[in-house]
Amino acid sequence: MSEHVSGDAIPLLPGYNEAELDQAFAAVAAEVDASAKALATPDAVEAFRLHWLGRKQGRLKAISDAWLKSAPVEAKKLIGQRFNVLKAAIETRLETAGQASHTHALDSERIDITLPGTERKLGAEHPLIKTQNELLAIFARIGFSVGVGPEVETDYYNFESLNFPPGHPARDTQDTLVIANQERRPLRDRLLMRTHTSPVQIKTMEQQPPPVRIVIPGKVHRNDAADATHSPIFHQLEGLCVDTNITFADLKGTLDYAMKQLFGSSVKTRFFPSFFPFTEPSADVQISCPFCGGKGCRKCKHSGWIELLGCGMVDPAVFGFAQQKQPAYDPKKISGFAFGMGIDRIAMMKYGISDISLMYSGDLRFLEQFA
Ligand code: PHE
Repeated sequence: MSEHVSGDAIPLLPGYNEAELDQAFAAVAAEVDASAKALATPDAVEAFRLHWLGRKQGRLKAISDAWLKSAPVEAKKLIGQRFNVLKAAIETRLETAGQASHTHALDSERIDITLPGTERKLGAEHPLIKTQNELLAIFARIGFSVGVGPEVETDYYNFESLNFPPGHPARDTQDTLVIANQERRPLRDRLLMRTHTSPVQIKTMEQQPPPVRIVIPGKVHRNDAADATHSPIFHQLEGLCVDTNITFADLKGTLDYAMKQLFGSSVKTRFFPSFFPFTEPSADVQISCPFCGGKGCRKCKHSGWIELLGCGMVDPAVFGFAQQKQPAYDPKKISGFAFGMGIDRIAMMKYGISDISLMYSGDLRFLEQFA
């Protein structure tokens, strides 16, 4: 409120004839006008209202006390009329100022519908998850369910029950981080970051009798130096199928189907003898290069073939470990196959990604390309 108004004492009425009263009221009306100049905000309007109409401290009350109460009876009517006109003028001021200040406040909240909206970026599936889901869907179509297992695993499940006995040289190919301060535990109970998803093979068999058809995606850890194609953390998809009369032909048919689904029906597969302690016989699987159709290019190092996964028939020794909890895994009665593939590698081939570290960089410029 402007200061010259607020504290001013009420002047005495010069006299009670109409001209004198008009003059006195005109002075107050001018005062109202002056104090109503800056009523832009709701706060200013409220201050104006209190200043003029406040029940106890209001100036109008003071005027009424000073002029009306002490006036001679015959002058009361003349003063009263002018007083009402003054009060109405103040109220009109308040009303219009109130609306204006409101409009003013709303102005700042007004939405310009011609502006483009605030864009909220949609998340996108990470290429690894995308590839993983694609793989799970491919295997779901031929009756494979999905399982998971822990990333921190015991020596028993990661190695021993998969037929890597303590000191076996095959352990050296899968060096990993171990959890500290476990020297007092027996070796089989010591914890480590799993080096493959194969421990979930045994865990699955311990939990359910055959038949089993399951795929298990997950993160694995190895002491591998990082380069464009290696990362100490990567992803695998494990497969396990156990039933009566499962043969190597079933393994070949299953993987050939999966690779054709993944890379197109013109892709061929071929199997090479290999070694894993937990499969016998074991094989490495190559697919004809999906980039050059097998003619030879840089991607397949001009061989026309790309190695993609490991597999084999479940070793009877592994069934032996499963039998400790589920006697139905009798290697004389049932047989099975298993396979393991690198999801990162497959994603890199499918999406033309040349550096595996991009998968783990969290770089939006990379990830946005999969939106
Ligand atoms: N676990 C093996 C690896 O990581 C892959 C594999 C899985 C091989 C299942 C055969 C059967 O190298």
